[in-house]
Amino acid sequence: MNKLWLSAALSLALALSACLPAENLNTTYFPESAKSTLEGLTLPNTQTTSTQTTTTTVERVPGVIENLLIWKITPPGENPKTSYVLGSVSQSFKEGYEILISTMEHHSNIVPWQLACERKGARVVEIPVTDAGEIDSEAYDKLLESGRVKMVSMAHISNTLGTINPIKEFAKKAHAKGAHFCVDAAQSIAHMKVDVQDLGVDFLAFGAHKMFGPTGVGVLYGREELLNQMPPYRSGGAMIKEVTFEKTTFNDLPEKFEAGTPHIAGVNCLKAAIDYINEIGFEAIEAQEKELLDYATSEISKIEGVKIIGTAPHKASVLSFVVEGAHPHDIGMILDEQGVAIRTGHHCTQPLMKRYGVPATARASFSFYNNTEDVDRFISALKKAKDML
Ligand SMILES: Cc1ncc(COP(=O)(O)O)c(C=O)c1O
Repeated sequence: MNKLWLSAALSLALALSACLPAENLNTTYFPESAKSTLEGLTLPNTQTTSTQTTTTTVERVPGVIENLLIWKITPPGENPKTSYVLGSVSQSFKEGYEILISTMEHHSNIVPWQLACERKGARVVEIPVTDAGEIDSEAYDKLLESGRVKMVSMAHISNTLGTINPIKEFAKKAHAKGAHFCVDAAQSIAHMKVDVQDLGVDFLAFGAHKMFGPTGVGVLYGREELLNQMPPYRSGGAMIKEVTFEKTTFNDLPEKFEAGTPHIAGVNCLKAAIDYINEIGFEAIEAQEKELLDYATSEISKIEGVKIIGTAPHKASVLSFVVEGAHPHDIGMILDEQGVAIRTGHHCTQPLMKRYGVPATARASFSFYNNTEDVDRFISALKKAKDML
């Protein structure tokens, strides 16, 4: 029997290799990119042209991310999310400034802000979450009253709880108090239509691997007016207009923020991933994932001793749970022996684990390539695991 993947991180790689039509992947690109890098002088702009082709594609593909102004190409190994925004934005932080981030954030939407605040004497302030796993909106309102909040950064969808946050409403409130709003869209970008204009946010970021694309490349949206005001974060080739030893002037957007040779191969693969997702369509994706979440939630609720962590009414297809008397890692191992892959651990959300008083959770996440039989297999494997422990 085939292994069943109910773990987003694992299934991404699988989906990429198994689902993407081979013709979508530009197999001739790697040698070409090496050539253009080595022969940059004789093949000027090859990389830029290739990158911009995808930029145009991303801009024009309705439903993936609408009205995209700039997108960021990150070198392998760099976190393509908040680190990039804060690299530039944090230069204007001052002592006493506050950055609001919620308890449910992934570490990559906490630690970079902490480091920036340490450098500037600013302060990260936590927005609490409720028992059900929603951001406490009354507490949020109160925190905004301090008059010191300059930035709010929040996940669109929590990777641990599945909660879909009311970004539009929260961004409006932040703006009314003079703060900017940044969205971590890592978990929403492949599961729902994301329209930055409609959300009314200032920044939005995601890594390509969260939408079946490659690792080491990501996208940053920023409001044009803000990006124009922001100083460059990285420096090097391509981001300049003119260099003299007296003074350097910087390129227009988006090049101002894209120093050095970009990850061209990754960009081409991201284009294939975007085309692939759009062929399926978000309507179909959302309908399928909702059906699976509802079914799995109803089935798992029938098992005594299993507690769901994250019960917000507005949720994506993520099901985190703990089993009375059993460590999530043991549950994960026994499921694995039955051919069902789930994810266990703190999911890079340690503050959230502390909030719920658990060391870890087990988490099944469902995607459009899963079906109700997969849910049945998962539930039956979980029942067996529970009986064994
Ligand atoms: C909500 C959320 N934010 C951020 C990240 C980190 O993404 P990256 O690995 O691209 O830094 C993840 C990854 O799991 C995530 O789920």
